[in-house]
Amino acid sequence: MANSERTFIVIKPDGVQRNLVGEIIKCFEQKGFRLIAMKLIQASEDLLKEHYIDLKHRPFFAGLEKYMQSGPVVAMVWEGPNVTNPVDSKPGTIHGDFSIQVGRNIIHGSDSVESAEKEIGLWFQPEELVDYKNWVYE
Ligand code: PPS
Repeated sequence: MANSERTFIVIKPDGVQRNLVGEIIKCFEQKGFRLIAMKLIQASEDLLKEHYIDLKHRPFFAGLEKYMQSGPVVAMVWEGPNVTNPVDSKPGTIHGDFSIQVGRNIIHGSDSVESAEKEIGLWFQPEELVDYKNWVYE
């Protein structure tokens, strides 16, 4: 598929607590993206330190880490044309639709193909990424 990319998405603890998991998955499915991997996990401090390594000197870093450990998160990999594009990507839309605070913003999505590759490698083992063909009818 032209311009097909993979992105890493996390539904953050507030998204899980607010029962928005299904709604968020629905957005990606309706857009036509393809689910490659998904798991509900309690993120460890080490994983979050690595994931947010570029933000470690920011004043909000400690709060961000605490928030991300406040409950389980849903980690996913989605595939499709321009799926990491920040201009019209689903995370941007979901922020606008469901969130009013940057510190409680429901979802994280990779901002480039390069960061997606790094984040997918951090959160998933290679065998957790499922390779399958699409079919609907026999
Ligand atoms: S920046 O300033 O461009 O580097 O940061 P930005 O890309 O906007 O945000 C990076 C992640 O930091 C989170 N963030 C915050 N969390 C808590 N409090 C404050 N003030 C704050 N500002 C930014 C923001 O939600 C981003 O999280 P992710 O998980 O990457 O979406």
